[in-house]
Amino acid sequence: MLTDDHKTRKLTAYWDDLVGGDTSQYKEAVLDHLITTYLPDCIETILDIGCGTSDIAFKHRDRLKASKFVCADYDAAIVERMKAEHAGQNVEWRVGDIFVIDQWEDRFDLVFLLDMIHEIYSFYGRVSRDAPGEIDHERGSKAVRDALASVARIVRPGGGIAITDNVLTAETGPVTVRMRTPQTRAAVERFLSEYPSRRMKVERPQDDVIVLAAHDFCILLTQYNKIKTGQEHRWRVEQLEIHQYLDEEGYRRLFDELGFDLHCVIGTPKPALDEWRSDFDVLAGLPDLPPKRVTLLATKRLG
Ligand SMILES: C[S@@+](CC[C@H](N)C(=O)[O-])C[C@H]1O[C@@H](n2cnc3c(N)ncnc32)[C@H](O)[C@@H]1O
Repeated sequence: MLTDDHKTRKLTAYWDDLVGGDTSQYKEAVLDHLITTYLPDCIETILDIGCGTSDIAFKHRDRLKASKFVCADYDAAIVERMKAEHAGQNVEWRVGDIFVIDQWEDRFDLVFLLDMIHEIYSFYGRVSRDAPGEIDHERGSKAVRDALASVARIVRPGGGIAITDNVLTAETGPVTVRMRTPQTRAAVERFLSEYPSRRMKVERPQDDVIVLAAHDFCILLTQYNKIKTGQEHRWRVEQLEIHQYLDEEGYRRLFDELGFDLHCVIGTPKPALDEWRSDFDVLAGLPDLPPKRVTLLATKRLG
């Protein structure tokens, strides 16, 4: 299975990067704001699905003083590692795919899905789950809807689902972009020739200018800098993924259908924005660089 190969590509440095970087600080701060503003104080039960090292969920568990805390992931190796690191603490670890939670009888006040939905989109979105071919958007989107529908069933009325991920711009037309440095050009060219998850149609009116679909530009922005900065271990993992699958309106519609109200912050952490500005000029097709991150809290309507 491609997912087994993907799990084995995640080395210790991958997990350290996930929790140690600017994006992690950004998502923790925005989640804090959303949870404090839109959820009641008495959160008794918390679930973190696709928990990885579960750093952020642990902080919220401690702050909210939740009495029941469950962390679940389909990667048995990371669950075993975390179980050993947190031995003796009041946390229950489960190994399982998000699609088995339908069989659970527990109900939760708050469910975290932090930077994990894109992996559902990426791996359930492939026609063959054994080969690193292109990700099919319709197939991936259906998997995301189905996963969120089953999570919605185990959230108590008044409770919430917290999601962090990358986000698509609402624009869908072509974007013309100038690459400002030779390093950026080299990284972009390598990305375009190697990326297995989407073969992008790109025009090159000048050596340092590319024209591509706005959604492809969002994907490129997430990926190219691992190559540029020599983070080969992350590129080996993340080249099998697409990190953005919905725009803000798409999240709003989906959660409305599921009976949830959406509270959403769209933005770009400053260090990422500074890097993008030094690497790219948007010449046409978008008013500016597209936002990078979505951080959302969807609260389940009562009754
Ligand atoms: C990018 S990591 C994010 C980890 C953590 N939530 C964080 O924000 O640091 C994605 C996690 O989702 C898990 N995952 C991906 N697909 C899953 C699925 N279908 N069911 C359960 N876990 C899944 C992966 O094993 C991985 O630990």
